[in-house]
Amino acid sequence: MKVPPHARCWLEVDAAALAHNAAHVRERAGVPLTAVVKANGYGLGAAEVARAALAGGAASVAVATAEEARVLREAGVVAPVQILGALLPGELDLALAARAAVTIHEPADLLRVREASLRSGRPVDVHLAVDVGMRRHGVAPRDALDTLRAAQRDPALRVIGVMTHLPNAAGSELELSRARVARFAEVVAEAEQAGCCPDQVHAAASAAVFRLPEARFNRVRAGIALLGLDPADCLGPTELRPALSLRARVTRVNEVRAGEPVGYGGRWVAPRDSRVALLGIGYGDGLPYGWTQGGAEVLIAGQRCPLVGSVMMDYVFVDVSDLPRSPQPGEVATLVGRDGLDELRLEPQAARAGLIPYALTCGLGGRLERVLIEAAQTSQRQAA
Ligand SMILES: Cc1ncc(COP(=O)(O)O)c(C=O)c1O
Repeated sequence: MKVPPHARCWLEVDAAALAHNAAHVRERAGVPLTAVVKANGYGLGAAEVARAALAGGAASVAVATAEEARVLREAGVVAPVQILGALLPGELDLALAARAAVTIHEPADLLRVREASLRSGRPVDVHLAVDVGMRRHGVAPRDALDTLRAAQRDPALRVIGVMTHLPNAAGSELELSRARVARFAEVVAEAEQAGCCPDQVHAAASAAVFRLPEARFNRVRAGIALLGLDPADCLGPTELRPALSLRARVTRVNEVRAGEPVGYGGRWVAPRDSRVALLGIGYGDGLPYGWTQGGAEVLIAGQRCPLVGSVMMDYVFVDVSDLPRSPQPGEVATLVGRDGLDELRLEPQAARAGLIPYALTCGLGGRLERVLIEAAQTSQRQAA
């Protein structure tokens, strides 16, 4: 692992953990896995997450937009790519140039994709999305069979999948999700009876992989679980391996007197004579403004220290008064991840900041460096 010496803050992406999680999801699901790497691999790097997931046994990858498919191809990813999102007319040629499969979300898409296919001179792989309750994209279940038949009659299209997406699989209303899965299963059964069911049938994202076995059909699509994040507070602590750590360096240490206000708005007032360190990470790096709410901590030299004050654009304060020695500028603090025997998990930190883990990881960016830990380095670290 190479952390640039100038880096004030960075996101460590553990390739071996990503591959392990992909293998685990695949094993739990018992069917092939599509690794969802949209939004730049949920903030970790689309190509890096895709490569690691493929190494862990994923059969294909999925993104949201044509540009994301192009970026994967440019990075040398050759596995099948599905674009999940509805495409604007201007995106279709880009999607086809990236040799991506596209998703049909309404009957009118058939003509648009057909025209793009004729322009490109190649048939296009398509999945049909069926809307069983998300009300975002997808044809109504009652229109699914006709749309499938129409797609299959068109020589410009190769219908390879039928799918749906469940809006509540992470929530407490599992009965509602079961009813939606049952509705999708009816569509699939009708298509099978009519002899027009495509090869790939998929509904489950991460939460459903673990909580709704009947949603697995013959393929699953998972994103957040690849990162080692629990999709619905439903996993044991060791089932997935956290694939990201967030670290920042101490830039300076200040002595403050009891009663002195610290930072913007003086939102933290030192309760005693204190030592506060500044870490070189702020909301300009994607650290959420609400991060210091509700008792957030960092690890410095393996010891927990409380964050205080509000998150600034370039810095955040940490009270290091209880450390046996003052940290030095350049010393590393861990905001998420392991340091020594202790670990700060991302899920509770996100919750304290009022965020779901997805929104937190996707928002990490700005000046934040991304550092990939390759498999060999990870095993060395584990051995050590
Ligand atoms: C259509 C679709 N499938 C699969 C996923 C992956 O979801 P998760 O990250 O919960 O596994 C998403 C993510 O938002 C999605 O929009």
